[in-house]
Amino acid sequence: MAVPKDVVWPRDPHTAAKHDLLKRYLSAWAPILLSRHDVITYAEGFSGPGIYTHGEPGSPVIAYDVFAGALHRYPKRLRMFLMEEDKRRVEELRNRLALAQARHSNHLHRRLTVDIREGDFHPVLLHSLRATGSLGKPLFVLLDSYGGPDIPYATLQVLAQQPSTEVMVTFAPSFLTRFAEKNDDQRQRGDAAFGGQEWQTVFTKPKADKFPFLREQYRSALHRAGFSHTLHFEMVDEGGRVLYLIFGTSHDKGLEKMKDAMWGVDRSHGVRYRDPRDPHQQQLDLELEPDTAPLCRILLDQVTSSPTGRTVAELQKFTLLETVYRPAQVIKLIRQMRDSKVVATEPTGVNTKTRVLHPASLSSRNTMVAEQDALW
Ligand SMILES: C[S@@+](CC[C@H](N)C(=O)[O-])C[C@H]1O[C@@H](n2cnc3c(N)ncnc32)[C@H](O)[C@@H]1O
Repeated sequence: MAVPKDVVWPRDPHTAAKHDLLKRYLSAWAPILLSRHDVITYAEGFSGPGIYTHGEPGSPVIAYDVFAGALHRYPKRLRMFLMEEDKRRVEELRNRLALAQARHSNHLHRRLTVDIREGDFHPVLLHSLRATGSLGKPLFVLLDSYGGPDIPYATLQVLAQQPSTEVMVTFAPSFLTRFAEKNDDQRQRGDAAFGGQEWQTVFTKPKADKFPFLREQYRSALHRAGFSHTLHFEMVDEGGRVLYLIFGTSHDKGLEKMKDAMWGVDRSHGVRYRDPRDPHQQQLDLELEPDTAPLCRILLDQVTSSPTGRTVAELQKFTLLETVYRPAQVIKLIRQMRDSKVVATEPTGVNTKTRVLHPASLSSRNTMVAEQDALW
């Protein structure tokens, strides 16, 4: 879809999926952090007007409603910091948040503060977060531009180096693959976003590899900036346009909750994604009962890459940190793989301590044990 010029615009399926994901994640994030901290912060660099053409709420309003619900349960404080450069959209956003606030008590307003600023998010967003003491305390930053890339790497670095900060960035790879090869300004824009020039190797890649390559480059940039974990959520609209939401965190819990949110996204939005580790790169519909065939292949790959196999706990950790799947999916899958003799388990029953091996490794181990027994 072209960049909208009007104050509000129709919500497309991408956006519906993104909102579903955001709502699910914040509904987990806010209570966990409010149960442990007195004050937490949510910031957006590209807030939009807070509403879509048919009355659907924008991301700041969705976040506000989730936080209002969480603050009913926890007598703590939450600050929202919102930036938007279009004056008309700022005005609309103020109206929309005033309506959201009117649905709650004055007592809640004092604990859920909203600071809306008009202007370019950079560098005001970071300055304001620093000035209000929000950096270094629990903070979630949504940088939801039209896909840019628009976020300076240096900004990601500052955020990543704070202990409890998470980011979600919208990244559209098509701009760079279409315009940057022959245009110095656009290439420099890419360099500023990736914090280096390695991404430019994309120009030598076959067409089918270009987007996944840029996505992985962007995830690496977030790692280099300081986030220990990253996840991506791929959205492909009806026109085949790819948009990535890239999430960075340094907390295992954040990673786990984001995965839960991703797997829970309503599939009627037509969102698709694929796991970069799946050798078949299968594109999947997001389903409530997800297709775990790619995870089977990934786990099998892990098991066979070690002569002594892997424990279920190791496979769960690997699944959490290195794939788009969830640790909770592993045990059921290993049982199925054992029953169909794709893997062997030792002992046969499956729990976190069970060792999972390639069936051939188990039979050669058993032969060795039998031979040793015979020698004795
Ligand atoms: C994709 S929309 C945001 C949608 C919103 N997050 C939502 O989900 O409802 C991007 C918004 O960023 C604003 N914008 C673009 N460049 C900006 C900048 N440099 N700083 C702040 N806002 C910007 C645009 O005016 C637009 O409203």
